[in-house]
Amino acid sequence: MLKSHHTRHLLLLIAATMLLAATQSACRGATRKAPPVHINWNMDNQKYLTAQEPFSFFEDGRAMRPRVEGTVREAEPEYSEVELTGRVGDTYATETPMPLTRDLLVRGQERYEIFCTPCHSSVGDGNGIVRQRAMTWNVPTFHDEERRSRSVGQVYEIITEGFSTMPSYRSQVPLSDRWAIAAYVKALQLTQGAARDAVPADVLQSNGW
Ligand code: HEC
Repeated sequence: MLKSHHTRHLLLLIAATMLLAATQSACRGATRKAPPVHINWNMDNQKYLTAQEPFSFFEDGRAMRPRVEGTVREAEPEYSEVELTGRVGDTYATETPMPLTRDLLVRGQERYEIFCTPCHSSVGDGNGIVRQRAMTWNVPTFHDEERRSRSVGQVYEIITEGFSTMPSYRSQVPLSDRWAIAAYVKALQLTQGAARDAVPADVLQSNGW
């Protein structure tokens, strides 16, 4: 008996789907020289011009275009010595070069949570997830006498330059954020090391401390 048109179409469709699936699936771990079958090209490969390439579209026959007349480079902010290095001469700054506001500390906290907690932990005891998984790597607490004695300028320098086995964060964290983080580290030290009588009585009472 002849198959109906519908059934034949359906079989064709199934065969086409199976073929497509076969061409699209790759063997795990196998290497091959030929480029993968690429059904949907989107904008993966485009014609583009490279420097020095001739291009007849423009009158001068070049692909490279001259700078638009009158364009100037955007001015970079001029930072002072202390903003850049955390010190003046040999002396570390004991205050942030920008006003120490609540906003600065909040920003510092947010950035600290992103960049520093993996090793130093949220409270700065050095017991972050990296320390927990790599026990041989000694990450110090911020709350001993030695670390507490570091001024905000020195903490800024540690973030900027790195310290012993700790890498530099200069290229990942912009200057103003490095200062914000440094200020937050000092605040963190204050919270973890505050004497009971340094806390206002009403705060003690309202928190039940
Ligand atoms: C990948 C892990 C790691 C990250 C992330 C990290 N640190 Fe460290 N940090 C260390 C280690 C390890 C040391 C101890 C280095 C040593 O003394 O050998 C250290 C030391 C320090 C010290 C103490 C240096 C001293 O002895 O006075 C400060 C302050 C510090 N880090 C601040 C930060 C801040 C702020 C951030 C975030 C911007 C940060 N660290 C991110 C690993 C890290």
